[in-house]
Amino acid sequence: MTPKDVPVPAQGLVIRRAELEEVEAVLESVLNLAKASATAAHWSRAAFYPYLATDEAGGDLQAKAMFLACANPFASAAEAASGDHPIAKVDGVVGFAAFSAIMTVGAGESTLENMAVAIPWQRQGIGRRLLAAGILWCRAHAARSVFLEVRETNQVAVSLYNRTGFSVVGRRPGYYRNPLEAALQMQKSLDCVVLGR
Ligand SMILES: CC(C)(COP(=O)(O)OP(=O)(O)OC[C@H]1O[C@@H](n2cnc3c(N)ncnc32)[C@H](O)[C@@H]1OP(=O)(O)O)[C@@H](O)C(=O)NCCC(=O)NCCS
Repeated sequence: MTPKDVPVPAQGLVIRRAELEEVEAVLESVLNLAKASATAAHWSRAAFYPYLATDEAGGDLQAKAMFLACANPFASAAEAASGDHPIAKVDGVVGFAAFSAIMTVGAGESTLENMAVAIPWQRQGIGRRLLAAGILWCRAHAARSVFLEVRETNQVAVSLYNRTGFSVVGRRPGYYRNPLEAALQMQKSLDCVVLGR
């Protein structure tokens, strides 16, 4: 999909959680998106799958979720948001972000595990919106911090993370393969600021 093929402007774009019932279509879109990017993690279908499962079930300490940016040229934003339109659910997935959270009372941690935006849609604020949606989910899962790893030379992603309040807290030499490269570990604190006494 290229910008000239897309008949709707960016306001038709919806950021929403991926659902288990749309698993096949979502996995196909997200696998293709990740594969098309040199710097996103190239997960298998099986690796993506748990991010579509509901985190409420089972009482696990670890929860996972994936957020999608959907540009649907056939549905209005309202239809797409409500999910009523028959193809609003999965048509035109142009970005995703996958998060996990470990829900330990009082010390919960979360991680941005993988993220990509399709090249024609980059630099339009989608990465920022996906992060914002994921961070809300992390907060709702009792996380006090969000962590991530990023290739040291991935200046675009590092810039996005800096702009959204992450800072570098460590470096892991040889963390990535193909090509071999160090990871920067970044963290954003989610602790609330308490005003007054
Ligand atoms: C990193 C990525 C997800 C950013 O998505 P995006 O939708 O383009 O990001 P946004 O439009 O929300 O940009 C937010 C900030 O990111 C930075 N940024 C985004 N694109 C940039 C570019 N081409 N050059 C420099 N900085 C850039 C800027 O700081 C930007 O803020 P600004 O527009 O106010 O200057 C996207 O570039 C991508 O998919 N890259 C390939 C996969 C990847 O590297 N994933 C991260 C793995 S850790």
